[in-house]
Amino acid sequence: MLYLSMLTDIKNSIWPMLFKFYSCVKPSFKRAILAFINSGFYVLDQSVILYSKISKRVVSLMTNIKRKILVTAALPYANGPLHLGHMVEYIQADIWVRFQKLFGNSCYFVCGDDAHGTPIMLRAEKLQITPEQLIADSHGSHLADLQGFGVGLDNFHTTHSAENRSLATEIYERLLKRGDISKRTIRQAFDPIKNMFLPDRYVKGECPKCQAKDQYGDNCESCGATYGPLDLKNPLSVISGTTPIEKESEHYFFCLDHYEAFLKAWTEKGHLQSEVSKKLGEWFKTGLEQWDISRDGPYFGFEIPNTENKYFYVWLDAPIGYIASFKNLCHRHPSISFEEYWAENSDTELYHFIGKDIVYFHALFWPAILKGSGYRLPNNIFVHGFLTVNGQKMSKSRGTFINAKLYLDHLNPEYLRYYFASKLGSGVDDIDFHAEDFTQRINADLVGKWINIGSRSAGFITKQFLGKLSSHCAEPALYQTFVDKGKYIQSFYEEREYSRAIREIMGLADIANRYIDDKKPWILAKSPATEMEALQVCSMGLNLFRILSIYLKPILPNLAEKIATFLNTELTWESRNTPLLDHPIQPFTPLLQRIELKEVIAMIENSKEDISSLLPLKTTPLQEDPLRETISIDDFAKVDLRIALIVNAEPVEEAHKLLKLTLDIGGDIRTVFAGIKEAYNPDSLIGKHTVMVANLAPRKMRFGLSEGMVLAAGPGGKDLWILEPHTGAHPGMRVK
Ligand code: MSP
Ligand code: ZN
Repeated sequence: MLYLSMLTDIKNSIWPMLFKFYSCVKPSFKRAILAFINSGFYVLDQSVILYSKISKRVVSLMTNIKRKILVTAALPYANGPLHLGHMVEYIQADIWVRFQKLFGNSCYFVCGDDAHGTPIMLRAEKLQITPEQLIADSHGSHLADLQGFGVGLDNFHTTHSAENRSLATEIYERLLKRGDISKRTIRQAFDPIKNMFLPDRYVKGECPKCQAKDQYGDNCESCGATYGPLDLKNPLSVISGTTPIEKESEHYFFCLDHYEAFLKAWTEKGHLQSEVSKKLGEWFKTGLEQWDISRDGPYFGFEIPNTENKYFYVWLDAPIGYIASFKNLCHRHPSISFEEYWAENSDTELYHFIGKDIVYFHALFWPAILKGSGYRLPNNIFVHGFLTVNGQKMSKSRGTFINAKLYLDHLNPEYLRYYFASKLGSGVDDIDFHAEDFTQRINADLVGKWINIGSRSAGFITKQFLGKLSSHCAEPALYQTFVDKGKYIQSFYEEREYSRAIREIMGLADIANRYIDDKKPWILAKSPATEMEALQVCSMGLNLFRILSIYLKPILPNLAEKIATFLNTELTWESRNTPLLDHPIQPFTPLLQRIELKEVIAMIENSKEDISSLLPLKTTPLQEDPLRETISIDDFAKVDLRIALIVNAEPVEEAHKLLKLTLDIGGDIRTVFAGIKEAYNPDSLIGKHTVMVANLAPRKMRFGLSEGMVLAAGPGGKDLWILEPHTGAHPGMRVK
């Protein structure tokens, strides 16, 4: 009766009642209800669909109601390129979205760049471009990488947008009105040279607890102590190398503590993976603190309304960027209703894919902000682990920080999609990119098992049967086995258990290959008496290949597209129910090549060079070699700097570091011994202009008198660069 009423009136009042009833009953009774549902309808994999989580998703699976889903992936920072770690997330989310679409649900997928904050402002400064220019460049490169990996976003927007500015302002004002924003003055590290407050990671010094050197201002990597930047001993600003001072400033706080009860209840309602709920439990124990959402200028972000020189902290407007990206999508496609997806009482579904490092922001701050500002809440937050390379944390110095673009320059993106999928489950475990394992996995599964079925079946049909499949299905039972597995594969996709979906699919590929091995169509095709049987077997082979290609389509969209062309059909989920009979196909062209391990190793090797230009703003020359004390203009005027023409340069035989330079300074010829022998071939210097200190007292050296000094930069040895003026400067001109 329960089951019948669900089917007849599922959309009306019965389901909510049933759901309420279901949520209250004991676990053993729950199991009984589900067993009943399962036996009468779909045989859902019981290990995958958690009993306590029967939901809209399950109802939809059972009733074929089309779901309306919105998916987001975390917004990458706009200060650097995407790397393979990012791709774990974008590929994981994309597979899920593509599965939903393949299954017939409506599913939008939005993302965008996270364009605000101090690191972006400073990187732009370092590159001598505006932050706007930097984020525009990043947007282009991120989008190209995402497209390169087949990530089918409906929109890739940016947090530095009109939509986001207005949403962030609106949300802030709603929170303010509710009394959720408080103000107080705090003391912070301030860089007196850069004239700016310093984020914790921009101050380095000795750990106050264990004295370890070179520690960031938030915690010690050596002993694990946490502290503020002002607690460090001998602190230095990472930006200017100067000693920061303490300065007061008024900050704005979001009262997260007002939402403690709400959050506790929300996080326990099955919205999160169990590992994540557990982590939240720990945070609840330590208590929720108010969250500082403001930053003083100079800052690249949105100004807080009715304040002076105060900006929203990047993490306030970053998740609002999800809403902004969707709003922008609605602007471009007026048929999509913004309200339907974001109103407080929305009955569409919302899922955020994120990495384990940003759970606090998404599972605590974000639901509280949405709740407080009258927006809908996410149905779930899907957290994944981190990518390691050859078993180690990705590292720039080890060259295992592989950029997405570099991968795309070397290897087929669908290899990586498949490889990640074969490792991804629904938990938060880290996954490893291992060169040998990767090579072997692609060659064994994709080339050796799956594509092999197509390539070994297609030839005969094209050559001997004019490219037309048999009008008869030779093995209906075998065919049905492949169709039936779809129910399991579907629930594995739904639960993000991609590795289990792949295990099922490859298990089927083994069965198909065994079938062909047993029937030996290559022998049958040789004799006219058995030729028709070869057609049956190969047609069967291609029909099984088609089902497998449908199952793999969310993971391998590009290959699936090519296979659809080859099979001359569309690969939809439902279409697998009926075999292709008496159906013309296109000639088979090779779809995938085996990879060689050396190609993968070459890519990892190349990443070492690729990354060197992108090393972060970690330690700067100024930090290693701080600025000297301020001098007056009169002090500076004492140094007489002149343009000099190098008329001769020769090595000093007895000294391994010195070159003897003969310099024309417009009316006087000087001899200078310069320690640049390792850095320059003397002949390359002759005829060049440089800058010298012309009034330095002459110094008697073993090889003669040195009458001044040329200006050069760099640590020494081979790494020295002498100064050279722009063309047009003449010998003797004063440098001032
Ligand atoms: N800008 C924030 C997110 C704001 S969302 C409102 C951010 N950006 S990020 O560029 O550092 O990371 C983007 C996503 O990629 C995050 O979910 C992060 O966890 C994920 N990953 C970054 N490095 C990763 C790995 N090495 N491995 C797996 N995922 C990784 O955080
Ligand atoms: Zn320490």
